[in-house]
Amino acid sequence: MGLDKLLKDVKTMAIVCNQWGDTGKGKFSDYFASHWADVTARGTGGNNAGHTVVVNGKEKIFHLIPTGIINDYRGQITVLGNGMVIDLSVLFNEIDELDLERITCNNLMISKDAHIIMPYHIKRDVAKNRSQKNGGIGSTGRGIGPCYTDKIGRKGVLIGDLFDRDKLSRKIDAAKEIYLEQKINTDEIIDSLIPFAERIRPFARDTVSEMHRFMREGKKILLEGAQGLLLSIEHGTYPYVTSSDCSLNGTASGVGISARIVDLPLGVVKFPFMTRVGAGPFPTELGGRRSESYCAEDGHTKSDELVMYKVPHKVIEGRIKYNRNDSRIYQMINSSDEFTQGVGLRLAADEYGATTGRPRRIGWTDAVAAKYAVGINGPFMILTKLDSISRARKFKLGYSYESGTDDFPKDEGLLRESSPTYQSYEGYDDISGVRSYNRLPKSLKSAIGDFESFTDGRVVIISVGADREETIVR
Ligand code: IMP
Repeated sequence: MGLDKLLKDVKTMAIVCNQWGDTGKGKFSDYFASHWADVTARGTGGNNAGHTVVVNGKEKIFHLIPTGIINDYRGQITVLGNGMVIDLSVLFNEIDELDLERITCNNLMISKDAHIIMPYHIKRDVAKNRSQKNGGIGSTGRGIGPCYTDKIGRKGVLIGDLFDRDKLSRKIDAAKEIYLEQKINTDEIIDSLIPFAERIRPFARDTVSEMHRFMREGKKILLEGAQGLLLSIEHGTYPYVTSSDCSLNGTASGVGISARIVDLPLGVVKFPFMTRVGAGPFPTELGGRRSESYCAEDGHTKSDELVMYKVPHKVIEGRIKYNRNDSRIYQMINSSDEFTQGVGLRLAADEYGATTGRPRRIGWTDAVAAKYAVGINGPFMILTKLDSISRARKFKLGYSYESGTDDFPKDEGLLRESSPTYQSYEGYDDISGVRSYNRLPKSLKSAIGDFESFTDGRVVIISVGADREETIVR
């Protein structure tokens, strides 16, 4: 199936992640924003997300604004929806950085109903949730959880409140009763917010009405998901989740539309390995509990791992450069020790957090979790990063758990006890040059076939590299 056929009659599409985030949504959001969409909208989360975009030949990491902003000059609209939580200084840093690159924000719209991440949210998140050592879930420390907690508790501060000093003052005073451990100075906080109020005024809208207008006008709408289904507050591995519903439904609701009108929902799945950051169960993790604790300890970095495993590397203009095909990495990904194999895959696929720099936990793709995700986000899938593990002698997929169930048990205890049963497949060489499904190695096609039958899903796109061209449309 070609791209034209896939997009025929599609007016609204969504790109959401079917795992624990970091599956490479950015490449496809960027692709469809540049080639197809009139409107790009984000509906959940805040600057806990991070996507890397190449702007004028330079890599930039964005946390809040969807990549579609790059197309602002030609009238494409970018929406930050009602379901989002916004750190105003991060927002304006991103806008200023874009400005330096001569990228305009003339068609940026920010919901008046989105919530503001306040300084006291960040302080509490850092104190209670960030460090796994102190029993936190390993949050990104960006204030996301406390901000959504206040939203649900009907105590949140909205973008619209910035224009009403009295209301703002009353809400911050009320927060003093919630954040007893902090000395909140209302005037100080208001003084820090007021400059943002003037800057945000031209962008602040009733974005729900705007979205409805775009639909009436027949505009092509791209919904950009954040995080991933298994991190969703509704459907994820609670309590090791983020505080928004990052499913298809949550993403649509976060911009004020029904998921029913999304003609093409695409769930992104990293394959045949997957990752997780932060605490929580991960049945197929390579190195199990050892890997979880290691990744939770502060201070492990990419350069640590390169030194520890004697992989040659250089630091050029502050960026670490190494050959992902180095023979040391090759030995590691074929190691009989699962922990070492996990580190090898992390280096081969460069799996370190875009927002936090943390090493991501690595495991084989879990078909049980993927089947669960298909049930919620729909059957269409994009498989990503297949090129990263080329040269592994073998790869595996986790099918059903030893307990006999092939339903995904969200419960922590059950998931921790679940040992998956694996199906092994023969490894493959470099596939980054392959552009047609039929030319993929036989063992990979057979793994994809098994994965589709098991999950009841349909793989429509396969990504074999970071570049736009390195894509197979089925
Ligand atoms: P929070 O979203 O900062 O509250 O973090 C809650 C959990 O979600 C932690 O385990 C984070 O590591 C994880 N998380 C949040 N955002 C992302 C993301 O964009 N990618 C992967 N994991 C994330």
